[in-house]
Amino acid sequence: MPRSDAPRSDAPRSAAPRSAAMLRVDQAGEYGATRIYAGQLAVMGNRAPHAQDIAAMAAQEEAHRQRFDALMAARGVRPTALQPVWKVAGFALGAATALIGPEAAMACTAAIEEEIDRHYTQQLDELGDADPEFTALIEDFRTDEREHRATALAAGAERAPAFPLLSGAIRLGCRVAIGLSQRI
Ligand SMILES: [Fe+2]
Ligand SMILES: [Fe+2]
Repeated sequence: MPRSDAPRSDAPRSAAPRSAAMLRVDQAGEYGATRIYAGQLAVMGNRAPHAQDIAAMAAQEEAHRQRFDALMAARGVRPTALQPVWKVAGFALGAATALIGPEAAMACTAAIEEEIDRHYTQQLDELGDADPEFTALIEDFRTDEREHRATALAAGAERAPAFPLLSGAIRLGCRVAIGLSQRI
């Protein structure tokens, strides 16, 4: 990633509208992640295999969301109007994958985190040096999301029934949600 010392006096102003849209979609994603894990834990209970892993990842998503919430409040960025949709859709996705089984729940995490890693990397490339406060958060959270993906794969995500189909469908849904949350 380019990290030059070039002057950037104009950057914050020109980057501001784009940063606002990015922040909106990122906050929506972190919120959605908390809802997915809430749905999974509601079905699995906290003594199921990997429930502790899921609870730990959920706590990190909640911390990510809170930090994006704080930055949005500081900048006066409105949340996505689709928040109520992600509330229900995230929970439903989590519950549905957990009903298939613990490996499908982990396949859901692996698929989502693959998309989120790609999404955060694209944002970091696009932002460059324009918004250091925001990019520091994205870099930090991307590290956690990569760990979540590794946790999910180690827990047998790829052994889930119809893994390629399940993973492909979830990744597509994730990309659609990202596209919508940027605009609405
Ligand atoms: Fe996260
Ligand atoms: Fe995550």
